[in-house]
Amino acid sequence: MVSMQKIISLCKRRGFIFPGSEIYGGLANTWDYGPLGVEIANNVKKLWWKKFVEEKEDIVGISSSILMNPKVWQASGHLKGFVDPLVECKKCHARCRADHLKEDYNNKCPVCNGKEFTKEQQFNLMFKTFIGPVEDKTSTVYLRPETAQGMFVNFENVQRTMRLKLPFGIAQIGKAFRNEITPGNFIFRVLEFEMMEIEYFIQEKGWQKHFVFWQKEMEKWLQEIGIKKSNFVVREHKKDELSHYSKKTIDFEYKYPFGVKELYGLAYRTDYDLKAHKLSYNGVVPHVVEPTFGVSRTVLALLCDAYTEEKDRTVLKLKPALAPYKVAVFPLLANKPKLVKKAREVFDLLKNEFATTWDDRGNIGKRYYSQDEIGTPFAITVDFDTLKQNDVTLRDRDTMKQERIKIKDLVKVLKEKLEK
Ligand code: GAP
Repeated sequence: MVSMQKIISLCKRRGFIFPGSEIYGGLANTWDYGPLGVEIANNVKKLWWKKFVEEKEDIVGISSSILMNPKVWQASGHLKGFVDPLVECKKCHARCRADHLKEDYNNKCPVCNGKEFTKEQQFNLMFKTFIGPVEDKTSTVYLRPETAQGMFVNFENVQRTMRLKLPFGIAQIGKAFRNEITPGNFIFRVLEFEMMEIEYFIQEKGWQKHFVFWQKEMEKWLQEIGIKKSNFVVREHKKDELSHYSKKTIDFEYKYPFGVKELYGLAYRTDYDLKAHKLSYNGVVPHVVEPTFGVSRTVLALLCDAYTEEKDRTVLKLKPALAPYKVAVFPLLANKPKLVKKAREVFDLLKNEFATTWDDRGNIGKRYYSQDEIGTPFAITVDFDTLKQNDVTLRDRDTMKQERIKIKDLVKVLKEKLEK
C-alpha cells in the first residue's frame, strides 16, 4: 500500500494540494487545492450532481447559506449534542479525543506517550462567529457543521415550489466547518471541508427498503468512480456511536494508509429534524434517510486507490472522468517551428472538447512519465510524419501502447476511448 508521505509529496510537487497559508508558516489542518487538485474535486462534484440530481426524477438541488439563524442549531440539537469527548494529557497538556485515544493510540498520549488524562469533557465542534460590530450572545452565529440543516429548513419551500410528493430528495454540495479536537492525516480530517449530501424524505413505514436502496446507490457510486471493491468495507455504528439524530447509521470505510476509516455515511434520521423544526407535509412528518459524502475524503481515497508504482514510472490510474487532464499534446521537438505550429493546431482542436494540456519540455519519454504521474489518460505526439501524413501518435497511460490516428479522427477516437 502507498504511504501517506508519497501521496502528500506527489500532491505538493505536482500541484494537487498545498498546505494552507504556507508562506506564513501554515495554519494547521488547512489545505488548499492547487490547479490539479481542484480539477479532481470539481470532477467528483460534477459526477455526483449528475448521478444524484440530474439523473434522478425525485431529487432536486439547492444551495443554502453557511450562516443560519442560531435557532436552527438549538432546534436541531447541535448546540447540545454535536460534541466529542475531550481529554487532556496531564503531562504535556495535549488535547485529544477520548475515543481516538482508545482506538488509535492504545490509551497513550500521541504526543508524549503519557498515560494519565483529565476527566472527559464534552466539547462542541461548532465554530462561532459574530454578526455586526458587537461580540456578544445576541450576535453569535455558527458556521454550519453540516449542510443538512439548510435542506431541512427549506423543506416546505422546496416541496411547495417544486410540487413534490413523497418520497423525494433534496441534495446539496457545500462547505461545512468543524472545530475538530484531533484533526489530521492530511485532508482526511480537516476544519473546513465540502460535503455532498442528500436528505431523502419518506413515509416512516418501509424506511428499511429506502435504506437498502441508498446503500446500493452508494456502493454503485464507489464503483463508478473507480474505488476498488477490496479497498472499502461497510460497518454499522454501535448504539453508543450513533449521532444524536440517528436510529441507524452505516459507514463506508476506506482502507487509507493510516487505517480503515470513515469515507461516507448513511443514516436513518427518522423524523427527528423535521419534527424539531415543526415542519410537515399533508399533516405527517416525513422520515429521512441521509446519504452523505465528503469531497476531500473522496479525493484522498481516489489518490490512494489510483497511485501505482511500476518498474520505472509512477502512474495515477484515475478513471478518465476524474483525471485533471484527459489528454496532453506534445510537439516531438520544441525547437522545430513547423512541428510546434502543427502541434498547436492539434491542441486547439482538442482543447474545446477535452481538458487538454501542453508540454514541450525535456524529451518525449520524460513528458509521458510526467503525465502518467498526474493521471492524464492519453498523450499525443506530433512528429515529422504528422507533417506528411496528418496523423499523430496516441499513447495510452495504462497500457503504454501507441497507435497512429488521423488528426481528422482524433476527437471521435478520444471520445470513444474516454467513455470506456
Ligand atoms: N449530515 C450528516 C453528517 O454530517 P458526518 O458523518 O458527520 O455526517 C459527513 O459527516 C461526511 O463528511 C463524512 O462521511 C465524511 O466524508 C465528511 N467529514 C466529516 N468530518 C470531516 C472532517 N473533519 N474533515 C473532512 N471530511 C469530513
